[in-house]
Amino acid sequence: MDFESNQKNILELFESKPCVTMCAPMVRYSKLPFRMLVRRYCCDVAFTPMMISHSFLESANARDSDFTTSYEDRPLVAQFAAKNAVELSECAELIYSQTDGIDLNCGCPQRWAMSDGYGACLLEKPEIVQDMIHQVRNRISDSRYTVSLKIRVHDDLRKTVEYCKRAEQAGVSFISVHGRTKSQRNEPINVDAIKLVKENVSIPVVGNGDVFHLDDIVTLQEATGVNGVMCARGLLQNPTLFTGTDRTPSNCVTDWIDTAVSFGATFTSLHHHLIFMLEKIMPKAERKLFNTYSSFACVLDHLECYNLSS
Ligand SMILES: Cc1cc2nc3c(=O)[nH]c(=O)nc-3n(C[C@H](O)[C@H](O)[C@H](O)COP(=O)(O)O)c2cc1C
Repeated sequence: MDFESNQKNILELFESKPCVTMCAPMVRYSKLPFRMLVRRYCCDVAFTPMMISHSFLESANARDSDFTTSYEDRPLVAQFAAKNAVELSECAELIYSQTDGIDLNCGCPQRWAMSDGYGACLLEKPEIVQDMIHQVRNRISDSRYTVSLKIRVHDDLRKTVEYCKRAEQAGVSFISVHGRTKSQRNEPINVDAIKLVKENVSIPVVGNGDVFHLDDIVTLQEATGVNGVMCARGLLQNPTLFTGTDRTPSNCVTDWIDTAVSFGATFTSLHHHLIFMLEKIMPKAERKLFNTYSSFACVLDHLECYNLSS
């Protein structure tokens, strides 16, 4: 299969749609089977889980275990945790033909990532990020290929604006803004911060955080003027969220089982996704039991009584 011939242009999507819908990068969750599922339900662009550039470069085996895709898995953005330009640009070169863009994680707040110089640690290193963008751009001459950042906001929003402007000057294609600082967990997102970024750059800005219903998308877009919305937990709970449903419909559960099986998801992954999807459908006591299952047969048997299994 010639993956390169299936190249998609994410920048054109931003031009043609008032609000591009995106499945966020999610470690362990935004893998090929789940990406294929959300694509059936109005998701325009999907991100891979964050991959560590250093490990990705180590060997073909490491790459194969971190990254799987298929011809139809497009448009696709590969997200990396990287701390230097050489590594990120080498990753871009390796993954270019199978993806439509590369994204640098500048928002992961986990201690291990920050102490290794990855993720939100890069919020304090705009020069290194500029260098990374430059070098990826130099390495990949295809102007359709996007180079993007996913950031959290600073406590001092002037720093965020300055950071995004510098990234824009360096040639970044779009910026996704999770409206929390690196130390915030469950606080409401800072909508004004996302709006401020949007007002201060000319490239597309994608808003991220607390989107659980279609109404949340409309509200966020109207309040900020963003060009797209990226969703993580909302899609885990309801992969059809972008179609306007307020909970996972039964046909989506069936689709998930089919997709997971045909794209080789492990039982653990299939089960974990079902646990998220059924959160609002199954009563709590029943979920407790469902969550303990360790075989596909038990899961299917249980779903039969919901008339959900395929
Ligand atoms: C299970 C899970 C895994 C995540 N993994 C990543 C990741 O690999 N890279 C990243 O940039 N953010 C990651 N995030 C953060 C989300 O992409 C997103 O920024 C955050 O959850 C806020 O969006 P939400 O309110 O739609 O969930 C993850 C979030 C969750 C819930």
